Amino acid sequence: MNVVTSRRELASLVFENKKQGKSIGFVPTMGYLHEGHLTLAKAAREQNDLVVMSIFVNPLQFGPGEDFESYPRDTERDTALAESAGVDCLFIPSVEEMYPNPLSLDIKVIERVDVLCGKKRPGHFDGVAAVLIKLFNLVMPNRAYFGLKDAQQVAVIHGIVDDLFFPIEIVEIPTVREEDGLAKSSRNVRLSEKERKDASELYQALKKAQEAVAEGEKSTAKIEELVKSHISMSTNGKIDYVEIYAYPSLKPIDFFDIRGKAIIAIAVQFEKARLIDNLILNMD
Ligand code: PAJ
Repeated sequence: MNVVTSRRELASLVFENKKQGKSIGFVPTMGYLHEGHLTLAKAAREQNDLVVMSIFVNPLQFGPGEDFESYPRDTERDTALAESAGVDCLFIPSVEEMYPNPLSLDIKVIERVDVLCGKKRPGHFDGVAAVLIKLFNLVMPNRAYFGLKDAQQVAVIHGIVDDLFFPIEIVEIPTVREEDGLAKSSRNVRLSEKERKDASELYQALKKAQEAVAEGEKSTAKIEELVKSHISMSTNGKIDYVEIYAYPSLKPIDFFDIRGKAIIAIAVQFEKARLIDNLILNMD
C-alpha cells in the first residue's frame, strides 16, 4: 500500500493508473477507522482495479464549539487497517495541503439541508461539499463509496454529483452495526460504559418504529412519538431530533402512504458524543 500526503504524489499515482485504463474506487473518510469504513473499502476492492482511501479531518465541516480538535485520530492503526481491507493508496493530507488558499468561491448546499443535521449543524454540509469536490477532482474515481449511516450526506452528495456532472458512480453501503445494533462510529469511543449500553436503544427504537409501520401505523407523528418516548425512557441522552421524511428528497411526509422510501432519522446527544442513526423503509 502507498501512503501519500501530497497532492502531487497522489496525482502521479492516479495518472499512472488512468493511463493503464484501470478503474478507481474511492473511499473518503475522516479516519479512526472501524468496520463501517472497512466495509466501504472492501466493496471498493471488489469493484475496482485501484482503491484509494483518504483520511482527512476536514475543519470546514465542523462548526464552532464542535469536536474538530478532539476528533479521535490514530494514523498508525488506520494505516494497518486500511491495508488489511485492501486499500492500494492511502491519502493523508494536511490541512494546508487541502486548503492552501482561502476558498475564492462560496460553496453552499441549498437542497436537502433545511432538515436534520443540515438544520442542526449550519454550514456542515457546505464543508462536506467543499472537501469532496476537491477530493473528487484529485482522485478522479470511477466509483465513490458512502455509508447510509450518514443518509443525509448521501442525499446531498447525489445532488453535487448531478449538478457538477462528476462522472462518478455513488455506491451506497448499508449501515454496519455492533452486535447489539449500535451503528459503528468513530465517536462511540467517547461513550461512558453506561452510555454505551444505553446507546443500543437507539436502534431498538428504530426497529420498534419499523415494526409499528409494518403493522399498519400510518401517522409519522405517532411513529416519531414512539421513537422519542423509547429513547427518553431507556437512555439519559438528550434527543436532538427524531424526524421522518421521504428519502432521498428529504421532503416532509405526514403519513406512510407514499411510494418509494421513507427515512426515520435520529440524533441523540450523550455527554461527550452526539450519535446519529436512521432506518430507511421501502414503502413500495
Ligand atoms: P466519516 O465519518 O469518517 O465516514 C466516512 C464514511 O464511512 C462515510 O461515507 C460514512 O457514512 C461511512 N460510515 C461511517 N460509519 C459507518 C457505518 N457504521 N456503516 C457504514 N458506513 C459508515 O463521513 C465522513 O467521514 C466525512 O463527512 C467525509 C465524507 C469523509 C467528508 O469529510
